[in-house]
Amino acid sequence: MSETAKIELGGQTYELPVIEGTENEKAIDISKLRDLSGYITLDRGYKNTGACMSSITYLDGENGILRYRGYSIEQLAENSTFLEVSYLTIFGELPTAAQLIKFENDIRKYTLVNEEMKNIIDGFPRTAHPMGVLSSLTSALTAFNPKAVNVDNEKEMYEAICKTMAKFIVIATWTYRKSMGFPLNYYDNTKGYVDNFLRLMFELPTGPYKIDAKITSALDKLFILHADHEQNCSTSTVRMVGSSHAGLFASISSGVSALWGPLHGGANQAVLEMLEAIKNDGGDVEKYVLKAKDKDDPFRLMGFGHRVYKNFDPRARIIKKAADDVLETLGVDDPILDIAKKLEKVALEDDYFKSRNLYPNVDFYSGIIYRALGIPVDMFTVMFAIGRLPGWIGQWKEMRANTEPIGRPRQVYTGERERNYVEISKR
Ligand code: SDX
Repeated sequence: MSETAKIELGGQTYELPVIEGTENEKAIDISKLRDLSGYITLDRGYKNTGACMSSITYLDGENGILRYRGYSIEQLAENSTFLEVSYLTIFGELPTAAQLIKFENDIRKYTLVNEEMKNIIDGFPRTAHPMGVLSSLTSALTAFNPKAVNVDNEKEMYEAICKTMAKFIVIATWTYRKSMGFPLNYYDNTKGYVDNFLRLMFELPTGPYKIDAKITSALDKLFILHADHEQNCSTSTVRMVGSSHAGLFASISSGVSALWGPLHGGANQAVLEMLEAIKNDGGDVEKYVLKAKDKDDPFRLMGFGHRVYKNFDPRARIIKKAADDVLETLGVDDPILDIAKKLEKVALEDDYFKSRNLYPNVDFYSGIIYRALGIPVDMFTVMFAIGRLPGWIGQWKEMRANTEPIGRPRQVYTGERERNYVEISKR
């Protein structure tokens, strides 16, 4: 006999099914609650509410576990590449060598972005934030690739996926090139995906860009660690927008906008700005820990805390080690890293943070590596978006394949009761 949840409402007892996930997570299925009882549930920020069933990412916040399709991020970060993890996240299995080569070649079919897209980016001021430009350009891709809206069969879906993987990384680098007043680069189909990212970003007409394998490897690892994270704010947004059957580009564009917020992906930029402020303030980390604890001060320790991880974010642990390695490899001595480690130590010894299970998250150390690689601060969240793209695509594909209903939450109304219209002369 499977477990059920009994709930007493208005003198009636209702029995609701309990469903269990692969890792024994349990959920009360309330799909019939309103029909049965007239009641709905309320859960601000969805802290206790599952929006879907998914087989892509498993996350255990209490034990700091993160797996994509069953593979731990520790093993994937150590052994895989971003394109291979993208294939795994989107299609569900690690590819054979032939499948991976085919995937990369199918992406290469679409790496040329329509020249007229340049008219759109030219309309932005150089000072525009790259995330706003990226969200706009991503949505604009629909105008030049209308077929990507209809994904009613596997062939169309696969084509839309390859187009998105191909064009997103190009337009993402265009946001940087535009801000610098540099000419926009083209993808080079003779080179790898992450090497192309570096070329697209930094190659100038005045001479070839020398790829450093160590930088490619560090970026591969960072993109892998950002690839997916179950139903986070931006991924839930992509699924919600896609549930209305809006196209893939439009749905990804909405995910970019959600990720931009400083409480979400925008935190990696906010962390660097916070560390810079602490450095410029004489490195007084205790002062900023006090500010973060002060309820009257809106300041939060950026890069700390997480909705789900109530233990160390496993990605932060890997990125922290990678930061040490990358800075040593590049011979960069960045005082910001020392401030970050000191801030982490002080915070983790403080009861306020310990009692609230506030640990460094994925955004706390990633910016230090991006900075060492020469990525400007306002491009940090674009880096997050490039890494998260396969997760957004995979989750969107799963939502459409599972023919999920259009997302339409309920509410508890707290406004005025019915009242009659009053002529303006009588108000
Ligand atoms: C990402 O969801 C994901 O998976 C996201 C992500 C992904 O891969 O997609 O992991 C990426 O977004 C990581 C998070 C990046 N954001 C930041 O680093 C911004 C700083 N962090 C906080 O804003 C906060 O921790 C959140 C938004 C991340 C989580 O907020 P919650 O779960 O809604 O927690 P909360 O706001 O209810 O806080 C609980 C308590 C509160 O204090 P009390 O009311 O109990 O006294 O903890 C405090 C908060 O004030 N708190 C902090 C804090 N984070 C929470 N206090 C100081 N500094 C912080 N960073």
